[in-house]
Amino acid sequence: MPKSAIIRRFGGPEVISIEEVPHEKPGAGQVLLRHQASAIHLADPLMREGLYYFKPDLPAVLGIEGAGQIEQVGPGVNNFKVGERVSYRFSLGSYSEERVIDTQHLQKLPNEIDTKVSVAIGTRGLTAQYLLRQLYPIKPEDIVLIHAAAGGMGGVLTQWAKHLGAIVIGTVGNREKVKVAELNGCDYVINYNQDNFADVVLDITNNIGVPVVYDSVGLSAYKNNLKVLSPRGWLINYGHSSGFLPSIDAMELNTKSLVFTKASLKDFNSTAEDNHRMITEVNEMITGGFIKANITREYTLDEISKAHEDILNRKTNGTVILTFND
Ligand SMILES: NC(=O)c1ccc[n+]([C@@H]2O[C@H](COP(=O)([O-])OP(=O)(O)OC[C@H]3O[C@@H](n4cnc5c(N)ncnc54)[C@H](OP(=O)(O)O)[C@@H]3O)[C@@H](O)[C@H]2O)c1
Repeated sequence: MPKSAIIRRFGGPEVISIEEVPHEKPGAGQVLLRHQASAIHLADPLMREGLYYFKPDLPAVLGIEGAGQIEQVGPGVNNFKVGERVSYRFSLGSYSEERVIDTQHLQKLPNEIDTKVSVAIGTRGLTAQYLLRQLYPIKPEDIVLIHAAAGGMGGVLTQWAKHLGAIVIGTVGNREKVKVAELNGCDYVINYNQDNFADVVLDITNNIGVPVVYDSVGLSAYKNNLKVLSPRGWLINYGHSSGFLPSIDAMELNTKSLVFTKASLKDFNSTAEDNHRMITEVNEMITGGFIKANITREYTLDEISKAHEDILNRKTNGTVILTFND
């Protein structure tokens, strides 16, 4: 019988149980998918703890992004075939060897895109697309600050920003990650656990500051983020790995006419057309060789609790994924 990682209550890593579950048959408009890989996001342990904005009904199979091969198609499915490779995002249940899924969630994987690469970059690529190409469109020579530049999201953002011609200042949490951020393409790397990143950024920019900060760190970086922005600069917060942001003080933004936004992918790819356009662009970035996945570790289903601990404790760099035996 296939195995899944299930939670029956919210809590620490111990609430995850790896269980054998009966084979399911796909219903109308569904397929049975054998997973080859699943993304592991920082959001996953938060969801497990019940701290994510989306709280799943319990019991739940964790994991929201997967890819694999279609094993069986349900009645009325004529746009997907047995044997095709597909990927999906935002559908709970990817921490499982196999699952039934509605075809509306699926995208066919182009031959040139490896299944593991698709889950490593997938959502992160879409997020980078809206952050760099829609929300604050990067221009050549823009000096941008990207936090956690050795991480999964930061790695994709850095590579794409470099492709667009930006000068990238990246922050990282330890010495080992400095090299990773450099390999991602950062022009300058700051260890923000060692140095005050605001001082270093102002030094690099001759006290002018940067026009945009791409921030996934949240609370611990907030005050310094305001300091490093040039007048009319954009503070784009798209995550809060270190804790929730304080209430935003409009008068503080007014001191430099700053723009603050707390952005979320769902508001950029909510129509099928937008989603398709963004996925096409991400696929082009992958097949063009402009974004590499940098998968640094593949965890097995039995190791998923360990993966959660590693990501929460900032022990990972690059991208980590979950893989399954064929
Ligand atoms: N809004 C959106 O549309 C959207 C979409 C996708 C992802 N995200 C967000 O993007 C962020 C990155 O996601 P990811 O899955 O790719 O993870 P990741 O960047 O691979 O890992 C998170 C990194 O955040 C840094 N960090 C800083 N302070 C931390 C703390 N107190 N605890 C844990 N980590 C801390 C760590 O790097 P250092 O040690 O180098 O600081 C850590 O490696 C997450 O906040 C996620 O929610 C947002």
